Amino acid sequence: MGGGCDNFGGAASEHSVKLSAVFRAAFLTILLGALVMPTSALGAPVAKKKPVRGHVVNGASTLGPLTWQVGIINAKDVGTAPFQTFCGGTLRDATHVITAAHCVPDSNAADLAVVWNLHRRSDGTNAGAAVRTVSAITSHPQFTDTSSGNDLAILTLSSAMPVGAGTWPITNANVNWTGQPAVISGWGLLFDGGPSPDTLQAAVINVLPDAQCGAYANSYDPSTMLCAGLPNGALTVDTCQGDSGGPLVFNNGTTFPLLGVVSFGRGCADPDFPGVYTRLSNPDLNARAKDPNPPARAEPVNGATVQGTPTAGQTLTCDPGQWNNHTGSFTFTWISAVRGADGKFTDVKSGPSAQTLGLTDSHVGRVVGCAATSVGPGGARQSGAPLVTVAAAPPVAAAAPPVTVPGDLIAPTSRFTRRSCKKRKCSLTITAGDSGGPATKVAVTYARITGCRKGKKGATCRKAKTLKAKSRGKGVFTVTTPRLVPATYRFTVVATDASGNRSKKASVVLRVKR
Ligand code: ARG
Repeated sequence: MGGGCDNFGGAASEHSVKLSAVFRAAFLTILLGALVMPTSALGAPVAKKKPVRGHVVNGASTLGPLTWQVGIINAKDVGTAPFQTFCGGTLRDATHVITAAHCVPDSNAADLAVVWNLHRRSDGTNAGAAVRTVSAITSHPQFTDTSSGNDLAILTLSSAMPVGAGTWPITNANVNWTGQPAVISGWGLLFDGGPSPDTLQAAVINVLPDAQCGAYANSYDPSTMLCAGLPNGALTVDTCQGDSGGPLVFNNGTTFPLLGVVSFGRGCADPDFPGVYTRLSNPDLNARAKDPNPPARAEPVNGATVQGTPTAGQTLTCDPGQWNNHTGSFTFTWISAVRGADGKFTDVKSGPSAQTLGLTDSHVGRVVGCAATSVGPGGARQSGAPLVTVAAAPPVAAAAPPVTVPGDLIAPTSRFTRRSCKKRKCSLTITAGDSGGPATKVAVTYARITGCRKGKKGATCRKAKTLKAKSRGKGVFTVTTPRLVPATYRFTVVATDASGNRSKKASVVLRVKR
């Protein structure tokens, strides 16, 4: 079954659709089994089903395909007859289909295909139906669920339908169609909970005053929704599950401008609850429906994940993972629940709407998941992370004795603390070490720096010579030179401590007199 449409099964009620729309991510679908609906999502008790005869409901089989009607199927079902059309749509032009956002909330373009020129689903492609894959999905960025309005999506086809360059018209913005006759069509259920037809059904209904959708209370938004059915309670003709995304077109017999997109209803053909359609005369929806190059909605590549250690006291992060076409920003949401021994989830709690979740003792034993939503010009798309189970914090370890590590990491300092030259012999004292301890070794050299002749000999004359140092303990060392040629000499020392740290080179210059 395709993304989120209630369709052939007939078992999924409109109510579960609305509820599931709150958390559409795949990981949350598993939670739905545990959610109990005491009353309908509309707040009213669920009414007993009216005995309704009917088609689209109470439409009639069309004599052939309608030129603007398409069916949406899962890409994996291409080539499987009968076509499992899970939603309808309208071919706007050879490469674009207008449908409902709630038909494709969690779909990737590659999951979908579109069938045009289809009459009997069982015919497959044998009677001239053309199938195209989808290259991009665009949905209204503000769409969250049908009752929030803006239930509009555009599918861009991978290649053109064989219809030439023609386009199917869309209503102008700000036109009031109330009272006008309009055609509904689709392969949706023949009545609420009933079977779906093999043959495309259609019927003529009327655009109704908003007041006739008053029973929907806050779930009906007159600016983005259109109420349509038969007037004066004679509401025995309606669209039904599986017709979603399909067309509501003005019928004057010659042109058929698209006024609405099948969105939702309570039950089907319930006189108190007419069908609700996306209002394409709304200027924003109108512009989006006509967008010649609809921007592609972002698609998750590998899916969101929960990062971090799931134990009390830790902070978890929702990693959105990799996405294609992500041009907007991410929003995040968390959910937690108790998973029973039977695998069912209870005590479902949502929040916070933040990328991180600080785990407390109250989370211990619960499962936690997050969802990342990419919101951009091409629409909003959610990716749910696999759930993690929260464990208690590990017992606090007894205060460990401070660990001492032998040796240090600090280089010692070294300096010449005494020096004197007598009878052309020099004696020098070196003190080296640091707070980590005295130096244990010193390397001392001396080199003549004046009075050498130029050239090779001079170089030899200047060559540094090493001096053997005597340790006097506690980092004190002494060196004595042999008798030296009167000149100026530079002495250097590098000290090393017990941990092998070496000091910087220290030097001193001494003059040996005649
Ligand atoms: N939401 C339905 C679908 O997904 C369309 C329902 C229309 N219902 C109605 N009573 N007009 O196919």
